[in-house]
Amino acid sequence: MSNITVAGTGYVGLVTGVCLAEVGHQVTCVDNNDEKIYLLRQGISPIYEPGLDELIVKNTENGKLDFTTDYQSVYAHSDVIFIGVGTPENEDGSANLNYVFTVAKEIAESVEQDCLVVVKSTVPIGTNDRVEAYIKAHLKHNVKIEVASNPEFLAQGTAVRDTLYASRIVIGTESDEAKQILMDVYEPFKLPILAMNRRSAEMVKYASNDFLALKISFINDIANLCEKVGANIEDVTNGMSYDERIGNRFLNPGIGYGGSCFPKDTKALHWLAEEEGYILRTVKAAIDVNEKQKYALIKKARNDFPTFNEKKVAVLGLTFKPGTDDLREAPSIPNIRLLLNEGARIQAFDPVGIENYKKLFPDQISYKHSIEEALEDAELCFIFTEWPEIKEMDLGLFKEKMKTPYIYDGRNCFSLYEIQNKGVNYHSIGRPSVIEYGVLDEVQA
Ligand code: UDX
Repeated sequence: MSNITVAGTGYVGLVTGVCLAEVGHQVTCVDNNDEKIYLLRQGISPIYEPGLDELIVKNTENGKLDFTTDYQSVYAHSDVIFIGVGTPENEDGSANLNYVFTVAKEIAESVEQDCLVVVKSTVPIGTNDRVEAYIKAHLKHNVKIEVASNPEFLAQGTAVRDTLYASRIVIGTESDEAKQILMDVYEPFKLPILAMNRRSAEMVKYASNDFLALKISFINDIANLCEKVGANIEDVTNGMSYDERIGNRFLNPGIGYGGSCFPKDTKALHWLAEEEGYILRTVKAAIDVNEKQKYALIKKARNDFPTFNEKKVAVLGLTFKPGTDDLREAPSIPNIRLLLNEGARIQAFDPVGIENYKKLFPDQISYKHSIEEALEDAELCFIFTEWPEIKEMDLGLFKEKMKTPYIYDGRNCFSLYEIQNKGVNYHSIGRPSVIEYGVLDEVQA
């Protein structure tokens, strides 16, 4: 088994390192953040990811996994070094490669034996070529270095499963030797391995993410039209999904995609295409639709509330999706900012996202630890994330707890059937509204 180092202990780096140890490799994870390494050495994951802590503890105890900030000594004697650091978005939409090149420089200055450097971070097409040239230009020792591309396809909340049981492993190499090393690294996973050149591998990652983002924006576009023409998006997607060419996944309408990948990767590929003199019209459309979709709920609420000033607003769900405490590009953020700017008084519930939200909005929001408390006395309620706790809540609570039960559900958490006869006004995405508040009381009187 190879002696592997992974640079970066964020979602990509840490999950990769832990899973490589789990299948039997000797792995050291490196990060320049002392606090993260301190936590990891005690078996505590700095990110919320189901199943990860257990694997960290197990593989640390059996000696397969180690964590350090001392990159020099581990890079010096690694057979394979994975780069799994972040590539955040620049102001102009392009990918920021600072972290990747910082690691590349540290590798160049530290390696003392031949080594394969594997770029796992999502990077623009051609970056692997640049990283290889950069490392070669900065090498301190006379060693042979090659760079390979190996994009990851993990989703937050299911990252461990997505890595151990991935649909495919994509490797992009420019030599048979590099290809063989990566084939050996991935052999214990027993998964389909697709080998290609570096630029194609880099493109597979962007094309996959952008296709999924486009699928979501497409269905949001259709959902908006359904509302206008009296169709129900649930029936429409169900009808579409029986066609195997379309399938039923990533067809859930909502208030747009967030997270650390789709927003940034759509913009990065669009930016890169423009640089090449080509306009990626479909990807541009996905970005535009998503920008607008974030405000689909507020638009509906404005029909009922001309101003949110002094309104008590319940918010259920803050994270960009369930199963994570990550808030990057969470649609709740621009919506809450807008509500606060208009003078709304917000009481918010989220099962795991509150601590991180407090870093963004320390005092402006009243954080609640239960759905009941968040709904107490509220005049309207927004649902931004489809946490199981929210999907399975007692629907009688809306009428019982709220002052006026106006509900705007950005994730279609409840079926129209179950929300009926609950005495609420309920608006969701792409489906007819249920208007019962006041009306039902009159009927029953
Ligand atoms: C995504 C990809 O799924 C993963 O393969 C890639 O490696 C990284 O980006 P992630 O960002 O963790 O993973 O979450 P994902 O589950 O894909 O959801 C992204 C966003 O799309 C979320 O905001 C989610 O709410 C939204 N979404 C997803 C929809 O609005 N509708 C859907 O049908 C699916």
